[in-house]
Amino acid sequence: MSSPVLSVFIRSLGVHTPERVVTNEELSKTVDTSDEWIKTRSGISERRIAGPGENPSDMGARAAQKALARANLQPSDIDLVIVATMTPDVPFPSTACLLQAKLGLRRDIPCFDISAACSGFVYALQVGTDMLKSGRYRLALIVGAEKLSSVVDWSDRTTCVLFGDGAGAAIIETTPQANVGVLSNLLGADGNNAELLHCAAGGSAQPATPNSISSGQHFLRMNGKEVFKHAVRVMADSCERALAQAGVHSDQVSWFIPHQANIRIIQAVAEQLKVGLDRFPINLDRYGNTSAASIPLALEEAWQQGKIKHGDLVLIVAFGAGLTWGATLLRWHEPIS
Ligand code: UT7
Repeated sequence: MSSPVLSVFIRSLGVHTPERVVTNEELSKTVDTSDEWIKTRSGISERRIAGPGENPSDMGARAAQKALARANLQPSDIDLVIVATMTPDVPFPSTACLLQAKLGLRRDIPCFDISAACSGFVYALQVGTDMLKSGRYRLALIVGAEKLSSVVDWSDRTTCVLFGDGAGAAIIETTPQANVGVLSNLLGADGNNAELLHCAAGGSAQPATPNSISSGQHFLRMNGKEVFKHAVRVMADSCERALAQAGVHSDQVSWFIPHQANIRIIQAVAEQLKVGLDRFPINLDRYGNTSAASIPLALEEAWQQGKIKHGDLVLIVAFGAGLTWGATLLRWHEPIS
């Protein structure tokens, strides 16, 4: 008889970012902005932009290959795939199915996308964890992959300076050990504020027409100031609730991995939690806001830099369009191989 599943932990991580770097300086040649404005208001210095033919399924597959190699796993070991993206390769089929084929995963496994914008990775991690806890699957591939450069209006200086492309992948696994991996989590949404950050056309309500295209309705639009206020309040509150759920105090958490949208949002969240900013790894200066890819990119970097160690408490927290949000508290677990 197999052992009962008590916990689900992140066994491995991998990332892929496009080679092309676009600096603030370069952007200031095409829109009325400056390196100084972008850095002061957001903390971003540069971002990666995908090339033609470099789509979320391609970037996600490359991130997943790295995660598999680090864990000494074969594609055939994966039992389940969830891709979080707000920029799927095509409206259908899902990016997860395209990625399944590109990676040569087993043909009989469930593969699907989650649409929760910048909170997508936290949503996917939670759904994957719950599916693994059912005992039907052992190893799941959780991917956040975005090509935001395809939905950004490159003539709108209020948004185009903020976003970037990339992908991060996590392999999660069951263990009969208690009190490791995902300790607590919460997810939330408020569709009443959907218009604060949205794309008006391109779905079934407003398919592409010459008018929808010429009026720029296929681009991402954001009320930055309002989104900023919601982000600070909801991210701090989500952290507090995920900690309370697990009976953990913020002092015990080694690393907070926040969605990387704006350094000022992260500073305000750290202040509200009364936690030093040095416990918030930052990489938005080099990647900008990569939506669902942002948390796995930051988590992988902190892990690869040796910051996150076996036994550490790590709290990931995200916020995004929807509005959506989520937080997950993890006890980091390095498998003994
Ligand atoms: O992933 C989750 C969702 N996204 C976020 O979390 C983003 C949340 N919002 C933000 O990060 C910030 O609100 C922004 C970075 C988008 C904007 O910062 P802000 O301090 O709220 O600036 P603002 O929108 O109030 O703009 C201040 C001024 C305006 O000029 P006026 O009206 O004061 O004359 C803007 O037109 O800065 C102007 N501005 C710019 N100037 C130079 C806006 N964008 C730019 C730009 N370059 N790129």
